[in-house]
Amino acid sequence: DASDIEKGTYPHYMLKEIDEQPTVIRKIIQAYEQGEDVTVDADILKALAEADRLYIIAAGTSYHAGLIGKQYFEKIAGIPVEVHISSEFGYNMPLLSKKPLFIFISQSGETADSRQVLVKIKELGYKSLTVTNVQGSTLSREADYTLLLHAGPEIAVASTKAYVAQVAVLAVAAYAVAKETGVALDFDLKQELAIVANGIQTIIDSKDEMEQIAEDYLKIARNAFFIGRNMDFCVSLEGALKLKEISYIQAEGFAGGELKHGTIALIEEGTPVFALATQKDVALNIRGNVKEVVARGANACIIAMEGMEEEGDCLVLAPVHELLTPLVSVVPLQLISYYAALHRRCDVDKPRNLAKSVTVE
Ligand code: G6P
Repeated sequence: DASDIEKGTYPHYMLKEIDEQPTVIRKIIQAYEQGEDVTVDADILKALAEADRLYIIAAGTSYHAGLIGKQYFEKIAGIPVEVHISSEFGYNMPLLSKKPLFIFISQSGETADSRQVLVKIKELGYKSLTVTNVQGSTLSREADYTLLLHAGPEIAVASTKAYVAQVAVLAVAAYAVAKETGVALDFDLKQELAIVANGIQTIIDSKDEMEQIAEDYLKIARNAFFIGRNMDFCVSLEGALKLKEISYIQAEGFAGGELKHGTIALIEEGTPVFALATQKDVALNIRGNVKEVVARGANACIIAMEGMEEEGDCLVLAPVHELLTPLVSVVPLQLISYYAALHRRCDVDKPRNLAKSVTVE
């Protein structure tokens, strides 16, 4: 409704949309709840369960959500997944499996590069599912099935709440298929998502800390690096994109293990490095990465799950289910980008050269 798109007392839509994220998670729980569980419509369940491989197609932030979605479908439901950048898929179509299902992730549902792929795979006779925030959008109308994000209108060009909604809806879909196909599950997604909503709220309530970090690390920085391993790697890509989009700081997200294969050459006195540490199995490795960059003069800020704290500047996240950490760890990165853009007097909601939805190929 109209009140959803008023800025109210907020200086920017982006900050308002970041703040809405706990509500968005709760809305998704409500929209997808069925009794004690969260699930998706039976026809979508059937399409997912019958596929021998899922092909996720998306661009920008939605592509980053797709990378997490792959982990959900593989780790929770046991279905193999490929994730493709929509523009690349157009020229570089992979060899397809026997029973593929295509999943288009798009906040707007209008991205031309993604639509081009949808048209092509429809010609080939394949089925498709669109995960979008906009009911009645082109990708939603033209695909066989739709899952809605229930995030409310997203106005700021830099996507925040839609990303979190995409990741949450993909988790719901993966969880629902797992239940459908009889995979043993040792957690209750509905409960875990409620914990996530609270975890996000805790970060939002301490945004002053993120404002300070943005000032200390990024006010005059030329570049910045985001590192992580496993799921944190996917989030580091999104953290770097957010910072680029609105602060124009050259930023790169990469896998911690790749540091030694090139990027460490760029670390100088004062280079900002944001390290994500939410995945227990790689805690020691990421700690090693932080030591390596600090030894070369970097300013390292660690974003760690409770219990994985590090010495030095460390933002501690309230514990959530390990698969759901991307929903929480991205929030401080969004806020740090927001405040960095403010400190640098950038136009937060309407960054130069960018459009909210890109309807040209
Ligand atoms: C544009 C926006 C990005 C968005 C991308 C994909 O570049 O500025 O924020 O991630 O398009 O948009 P979609 O609507 O398909 O998710």
